[in-house]
Amino acid sequence: MIISNNVSLIYPDKTQALTDINLDIKPGELVYITGPSGSGKTSLLKLIMGMEYPTSGTLSVLGRQVNNSRAGNIRRIRRSIGPVFQEFKLIEGRTSLENVMMGMRFLGVKPKLMKDAANEALEEVGLGHKKMSKVENLSWGESQRVAIARAVARKPSLILADEPTGNLDYDNAINILGLLKSFRNENTTVIITTHATHLIKDEQNATFISVDKGRIAIERRYR
Ligand SMILES: Nc1ncnc2c1ncn2[C@@H]1O[C@H](COP(=O)(O)OP(=O)(O)O)[C@@H](O)[C@H]1O
Ligand SMILES: [Mg+2]
Repeated sequence: MIISNNVSLIYPDKTQALTDINLDIKPGELVYITGPSGSGKTSLLKLIMGMEYPTSGTLSVLGRQVNNSRAGNIRRIRRSIGPVFQEFKLIEGRTSLENVMMGMRFLGVKPKLMKDAANEALEEVGLGHKKMSKVENLSWGESQRVAIARAVARKPSLILADEPTGNLDYDNAINILGLLKSFRNENTTVIITTHATHLIKDEQNATFISVDKGRIAIERRYR
């Protein structure tokens, strides 16, 4: 699903964000990427999405190489990814339902099917009753659920969530993590970054990737 060999990422200003990353993530894994602010978690997700390219090393996602000569690959990879990124803001002035449908507009799906899938996704995240609400009237936690609905409505093989619990209180944070985990199945990998390790310390069926200054250590805890 995701294989990287000695991947490093150096930004144009010479910041070395990631160094010698070796990954082999299988379909159906639940992966937590943990580490302090600035350690490289978001950079790693950006590589996986083709928003950044490895400066050196090789990376393949869903069987396709991610590098700067493969724009077509990147488009195809992104169709199979459901991103829940902080900076992928919801579109104000539009309803929850419209926002979720917009996440599918590049897929070439018929409007009726798109609407059905969007409604279903909003039900799955517990926001069926807010589907006609404008997103600017939602709480942060509700907005995050809309973003999750937008990510899962297309039935992605890979869900990438960057700090999805943000500044939510403990109970809401646990609920959001539980919701994201619920979309994991044998064909769907879920990757979640967080600096809030106290939220996930007891997880037993997951892979933990801890990032520190751009280098990683991997621990698998499967029973
Ligand atoms: N676009 C960028 N240009 C230059 N440096 C960046 C860029 N994005 C992130 N960085 C730097 O790369 C390092 C890792 O950042 P990031 O991946 O955002 O870490 P995290 O998500 O763990 O907080 C930090 O030193 C950060 O300042
Ligand atoms: Mg980050």
